[in-house]
Amino acid sequence: MALRNSGARLLRGLQPFGAAAAPNGARAASTASANGVPVEVHNPSGAARVVVTKPLPGDRWLQILTAAGCRVEVSQCPDISQDVATVKKLIGSRCDGVIGQLTEDWGAELFEALKAAGGRAYSNYAVGYNNVKVPEASKRGIPVGNTPGVLTETTAELAAALTLAAARRVPEADVFMRAGKYKGWLPDLFVGALLQNKTVGIVGAGRIGAAYARMMVEGHKMNLVYYDPYPNKGLEEYIRKYGELLRHSGEAPVAVRRVETVEEVLKEADVVSLHCNLDDTTRHLINAERLRMMKPNAVLVNAARGPCIDEAALVAHMKKHPDFRAGLDVFEHEPAMAPGLADLPNAVIVPHIASASLWTRSGMATLAAANVAGVIQGFGAWAKPNDITPFLDGPIPSLPRAAPSIVNAKEVGLPTAA
Ligand SMILES: NC(=O)c1ccc[n+]([C@@H]2O[C@H](COP(=O)([O-])OP(=O)(O)OC[C@H]3O[C@@H](n4cnc5c(N)ncnc54)[C@H](O)[C@@H]3O)[C@@H](O)[C@H]2O)c1
Repeated sequence: MALRNSGARLLRGLQPFGAAAAPNGARAASTASANGVPVEVHNPSGAARVVVTKPLPGDRWLQILTAAGCRVEVSQCPDISQDVATVKKLIGSRCDGVIGQLTEDWGAELFEALKAAGGRAYSNYAVGYNNVKVPEASKRGIPVGNTPGVLTETTAELAAALTLAAARRVPEADVFMRAGKYKGWLPDLFVGALLQNKTVGIVGAGRIGAAYARMMVEGHKMNLVYYDPYPNKGLEEYIRKYGELLRHSGEAPVAVRRVETVEEVLKEADVVSLHCNLDDTTRHLINAERLRMMKPNAVLVNAARGPCIDEAALVAHMKKHPDFRAGLDVFEHEPAMAPGLADLPNAVIVPHIASASLWTRSGMATLAAANVAGVIQGFGAWAKPNDITPFLDGPIPSLPRAAPSIVNAKEVGLPTAA
């Protein structure tokens, strides 16, 4: 049976995000139906209609949309993942823009429905957009937004947490303790791996990969080896300088090296963390053959996307190598797990919570709203997508007159705005 939002909230003991919240100065929400799907309506007299497929945290996002003259309809559909048919009902016959979720399939059918309804803008509530067929949007002249920058540190911290939890066997020891099995200190009780001065390997040294790399290098004096089709000179320079600092303090310096292949990272690293985006080049990037190249006592972390790992192959590998550990935030067929994964004591598994800090989730809502509101108001794409901070706080009327991150700006002919 599919989990439903209301039940999940009860389980989490949380209030629904944004329910009945009125942004400063705006009227409280009313409820309505969009072709049978319940919606919460904000700013009903707004000239442009924007659909938000899930309640979002905070209220800055709502302030941005209402200040842009949008009527905002937030789906109250109880299903956790809304299927194409439900999203089409939400879009209806007139819709100017949508904020959607990574659990939705934004392909030709939805972009066609959005276009037919007069849609001018779509933003994913995520930095990754592998659920969006961007060419289908571009073909119809619809700009697609994402939310980079605000997930970086939060996601990197969760990857670091998974690394430590897996290396030091924290969940296993926690279960043992709760079961009342602890009878006293022993030299060999839950012995794990020390990270200090070992080698951390990164696949995908973009924003999150680089932030995670710095955490592991600075926190544990690990050496870094990474693979990315593009060098990250800023990261390399930072680590070189940190190595110099250590040398001046009389400590062993750390080293950084970009290698030409994923295989070199896998062979060399004691910890491998995936931070690439999911596309045809990274689907099943970690498979049975590449797992065999890794050290038998390595730690593999995935806070990128589930399909980057062949999960069945990982389960088989971990059964064979009990000292091999994995920390997983994402799964190949979410929300399902590969058979046997949940029974493995050497796997640390959490339910796709890498970006789950309130600051990040609110910031994602702000950026998604600013993407949709910006395009609807006729603004161009923000010229500095690597610095989205001007959108995150300050008075709404002083926001940059731009959409913060549009991934297909060039394809749809959206000009750049300062
Ligand atoms: N688990 C979560 O909740 C969560 C949260 C945020 C982001 N993510 C995932 O993390 C990914 C990275 O986010 P980001 O903000 O760092 O993006 P980014 O674009 O800054 O970094 C991605 C990096 O991957 C590199 N890359 C592309 N193809 C590669 C390949 N074949 N091999 C190695 N590297 C490759 C790119 O060159 C880039 O440097 C997102 O695409 C998203 O899927 C997951």
